[in-house]
Amino acid sequence: MFHPQGPTFWELAEQCLSSTERGYDLLAPKFEYTPFRTPDEILDGLAKYLGPPRSIDAALDICCGTGAAMRILRPLCRERVVGIDFSQRMLDVARQRFPDEAGQAPVELVRGDVLDMQFHEEFDLAVTVGSLGHILPKDEPRFVERIAAALRPGGRFAFVTCHMPPWYSRQYLLSRGFNAAMHVRNALVRPPFVMFYLTFLLPQAKILLERHGFDVAVHNEAFSERLRGLEVVVATKQAGQDSVAPATRGQ
Ligand SMILES: C[S@@+](CC[C@H](N)C(=O)[O-])C[C@H]1O[C@@H](n2cnc3c(N)ncnc32)[C@H](O)[C@@H]1O
Repeated sequence: MFHPQGPTFWELAEQCLSSTERGYDLLAPKFEYTPFRTPDEILDGLAKYLGPPRSIDAALDICCGTGAAMRILRPLCRERVVGIDFSQRMLDVARQRFPDEAGQAPVELVRGDVLDMQFHEEFDLAVTVGSLGHILPKDEPRFVERIAAALRPGGRFAFVTCHMPPWYSRQYLLSRGFNAAMHVRNALVRPPFVMFYLTFLLPQAKILLERHGFDVAVHNEAFSERLRGLEVVVATKQAGQDSVAPATRGQ
């Protein structure tokens, strides 16, 4: 459908009718040939704000999938890079790929739900790419809280987002149409497939991060004209900010 080696329409339909985790398990062997894999141009724009090679000890790739961000993260790290994702088969593909990636820091791939991450002040940097649409608005505070807990004081959380596009724009109308279809799908079929566009946007994401003790910088000159509108957010955990213990899910 997207690429000769990518999934067919029927494969995508089967994936979409599965749970999010199972859907990505099914998609994993062909994921690299879909537009859902974050393009290198976006990763390179993000990388401009992460620092020089070997400038940090440890980085975390949240919802790492097949490891697209390892190429920019591994060279930054002296000690370790950790990728977390709940799809075992996405992690299996990542595991096959990372020996080819630049950099020498050991790569650890962890299976788990990012809303239940139990890392405690282990990372200087956390990034997420291509994944914010999998976090429901009701779960965003918990998502940010788990990231804050994983970072050392002074650690950074970096990601790419945008402001809400105008209601008459093609991007807005297509995204709202897709979201409506997903709401119908999730009302009719269990378990849900959680994937929505226009989530974790500015300025609300900035406000949420500030509420959780981050200083937030927004960079709107990261990308070429073609990707105008995308912005890199770098949120720095304030020193002296206490990490909150994991709460019961759904609280
Ligand atoms: C669109 S892919 C992006 C993968 C990769 N970051 C990239 O940019 O190519 C989204 C990934 O998020 C993972 N994911 C979604 N929700 C998750 C959750 N709650 N916990 C862990 N992983 C999750 C999926 O399994 C999938 O691998």
